[in-house]
Amino acid sequence: MNKKSIRAGFIGSGFAAKFHYDALQRVFSTKVELVGAWSPTREKLEAFTSPRGLKAFDDMDELIAQCDLLHICTPPVTHEPIVVKALQQNKHVVVEKPFTGYFGDGTPGFNGDTFPKEQGLAAAMESIQRMLDAEKQSKGVIMYAENWVYAPAVQKQRELLEKTGAQILWMHGEQSHSGSHSLTYGQWKFSGGGSMIGKGCHPLAAAIYFKHVEGKARHGKAIRPVSITARTHAITRMPTFKNEGYLRTTYQDTEDLAMMHLVFEDGTVASLFAGELVLGGVHNWIEVNTTNHRTICHINPNTAMQSYTPSQSHFDNVYVVEKTETKQGWSYISPDEGWFAGYQHEMENFYRAAAYGEAVESDSRLAADVIATIYAGYVSAERKGAETAITVF
Ligand SMILES: NC(=O)c1ccc[n+]([C@@H]2O[C@H](COP(=O)([O-])OP(=O)(O)OC[C@H]3O[C@@H](n4cnc5c(N)ncnc54)[C@H](O)[C@@H]3O)[C@@H](O)[C@H]2O)c1
Repeated sequence: MNKKSIRAGFIGSGFAAKFHYDALQRVFSTKVELVGAWSPTREKLEAFTSPRGLKAFDDMDELIAQCDLLHICTPPVTHEPIVVKALQQNKHVVVEKPFTGYFGDGTPGFNGDTFPKEQGLAAAMESIQRMLDAEKQSKGVIMYAENWVYAPAVQKQRELLEKTGAQILWMHGEQSHSGSHSLTYGQWKFSGGGSMIGKGCHPLAAAIYFKHVEGKARHGKAIRPVSITARTHAITRMPTFKNEGYLRTTYQDTEDLAMMHLVFEDGTVASLFAGELVLGGVHNWIEVNTTNHRTICHINPNTAMQSYTPSQSHFDNVYVVEKTETKQGWSYISPDEGWFAGYQHEMENFYRAAAYGEAVESDSRLAADVIATIYAGYVSAERKGAETAITVF
């Protein structure tokens, strides 16, 4: 097979850029030509580019001009302007989660705890619309880097839904851990919210995706979410919180726990949790209860490999699994974390789409549904869980 070449660049050079780079080493269908990377701090940019033999660009526009596809691995507040800029030049964009959001009014006094959440919902909807409009006017395509969609367990469940014709009745799921590494996370003006958007976007995307898949399989049309009941809490900011040093605690004006209950247009439901209060590593799972089967997708941890050591000193040089506090005792070692997370699978789909025009499984429509749902969720949380309508695109 004559592989087509795609010229790709990274905007952002932190954590996400690194796992995008690793995943690109496993793209088989397409010849990936890595043009280079750009991010605002030269020193940090070079720490990413030098060991990988990539060119460090001085200018984002110059990088965009030389690429067919850009990886947007920057803080959420920057996603919309960078995505629109690249689409305007007819480039494809792989944009990290969350797709976009509301990041305040720019005033120094802006506070994520207290601003009117209807305002956030309206602004987030406008941001989504601008991105969708830019995509419509572009030869480029938005590829939403929601790796949960591509996690092998989620894709296998997709097959079950398509082949069994089942109706999903109730899903429940979670993404939690002990706190994000990113210092901008925890300030609404950079992250657009707390656990509900930062972590909740993952199980939410999977739940919405499964109902899209079910609807298309049974009736040729996605089943969309129509309302949400949500609660948010800032547990580590409570005066009564007992800090024993294991959880991150520096959230300024965002929640560290969120509960979301979704209702879909056929009356079926999903109950999802997201939080920063969970020890023992990343807890990523979703259970799907249907009319003819029940599935539990254990994205992390899973029992593909379990290993015991009486002293963690033996594992000093061993990467075990993301975010566990200790390696002593039993560990759920992930033999290939990126594979279970779906990172290489999302890149394979995106590059096939860019090179050969294949459909994008995690597309802008899914991204739009997820963000519209989350900001309706913030309105609900402000009203202490009142059921709130979701406007889909
Ligand atoms: N899918 C996943 O599993 C996953 C995991 C982690 C992060 N993410 C997402 O990836 C994105 C980046 O997160 P990260 O963890 O890599 O953060 P990071 O802090 O490690 O890196 C952010 C990068 O963006 C650059 N940057 C900062 N401000 C910028 C600006 N104004 N314009 C352009 N670039 C700018 C920084 O220089 C840095 O290179 C976020 O949207 C985050 O939610 C996704």
